[in-house]
Amino acid sequence: MGADIGVTGLAVMGANLARNFARNGYTVALHNRSVARTDSLVNTYGHEGQFVRTESLAELVEALDRPRRVLIMVKAGAPVDAVIEDLVPLLDEGDIIIDAGNSFYEETRRREEALRQKGLHFVGVGVSGGEEGALWGPSIMPGGSRESYQTLGPMLESIAADYHGEPCCAWVGTDGAGHYVKMVHNGIEYADMQVIGEAYDLMRSLAGLEPQEQAGVFREWNSTALASYLIEITSEVLDQEDELTGRPLVDVIVDAAGQKGTGRWTAISGLEVGSPVTTIAESVFARSISSQRSVREVTSQVFEAGINEAVTAEELYASGDARQDFVEDIRKALYASKLVSYAQGFDMLSAAGQEFGWDLNMRTIASLWRAGCIIRADLLDTIMRAYDAPAADQPRNLLLAPEFTEALAECLPSWRRVVAAAATYGVPAPVFSSALAYYDSLRAERLPAALTQGLRDYFGAHTYQRIDKPGTFHIRWSEDRTEAEV
Ligand code: 6PG
Repeated sequence: MGADIGVTGLAVMGANLARNFARNGYTVALHNRSVARTDSLVNTYGHEGQFVRTESLAELVEALDRPRRVLIMVKAGAPVDAVIEDLVPLLDEGDIIIDAGNSFYEETRRREEALRQKGLHFVGVGVSGGEEGALWGPSIMPGGSRESYQTLGPMLESIAADYHGEPCCAWVGTDGAGHYVKMVHNGIEYADMQVIGEAYDLMRSLAGLEPQEQAGVFREWNSTALASYLIEITSEVLDQEDELTGRPLVDVIVDAAGQKGTGRWTAISGLEVGSPVTTIAESVFARSISSQRSVREVTSQVFEAGINEAVTAEELYASGDARQDFVEDIRKALYASKLVSYAQGFDMLSAAGQEFGWDLNMRTIASLWRAGCIIRADLLDTIMRAYDAPAADQPRNLLLAPEFTEALAECLPSWRRVVAAAATYGVPAPVFSSALAYYDSLRAERLPAALTQGLRDYFGAHTYQRIDKPGTFHIRWSEDRTEAEV
């Protein structure tokens, strides 16, 4: 009997997935470029299950039962291609290569196509949940052929997070669909973190709530509709004191947010498939602005003068009932903005499904995100219910699900007050504001796009359509300004 699966690339994510497979009863063949890492895994965790130590990819492949399943966990990009190139000559028709890293979906599509020509399955798998998730149960979003899921699926389901008895793992669609869904997960993750940041900033700047007090507020919020992993860990981070200075940790961390690229890919793909993921794009831009520290050092001095309001924010928000009301307004603004970013994420998924020929099931995708992943939240269960109906009866936009339409209406006055306060007192709240603008765009009966069309027709004869009859029209702007049907 050979091993059930091989794992190559044993940095922490690969090692933890390998240990998770072994703990669930699978025999796992291990390979890493430097053998020392393989040895260290076997020495430290060998007692957790059945591991087969190998020193080369050839040995790894040799150790496997057929169809062979080799999981690659190396840095996204060229390293994935390099491992595939070495693996291909060692494999036979029907074998499965699994890329569990954060690969760009277009690369997954390209690799899947190339390997399919060679009779191999290539499965791009989105894995979320960080190091702990990989070890104890991540959310898993596999793509690739349906056929490959027959043998691979049960294994992945057994190591995935469990949500009340249901595994957070299901085949989402062909070729790059798994990595695409994971990418959108990360885009939403960016927006989730940004709205939390905006809430924190407003509470601190306008209501004077210090980080430790806010830790309590976020803890309370975690038992409302906002309940989620990210809200929970926000209270942990805000509670943390810096050992060196005794100040809140958040005050000694440099305010420049890093990014590895998945949020940016999501925003770019949103533009490409024509889906307005404004909250996700704003969240990526917010990180970019934060990282322009040398410019901000200058601008924060030059623009310091700021506004000169007759009534200061402190007088309005910083004490007693007013403060409490303001905090509640912020909670609602946060919830409404979060709803918008999820609606945008799902809208983008349906646009991408059409673009790439994936039959994405929104209900299934929501179900995969209920446990194990970074954006896990009670809200996902509600989203799943919104997609309970047969496809034809599902809401065209998630915000049209009655539960969410009502929630938004309930939050709206607070949301507007918060965005107005942010603008009045000069606290940046790009996602609170853009989410509100998206909502207002959706509810507007007429948008100024009609004027845009008129201008386009004027300078470029780009034509327009009329509201009262079919056809395509153009005004002879430089002649007698009469209308022509074109
Ligand atoms: C997850 C995370 C994981 C990682 C992100 C962070 O789902 O487990 O999303 O994939 O933490 O890549 O991305 P940034 O470094 O871009 O914030």
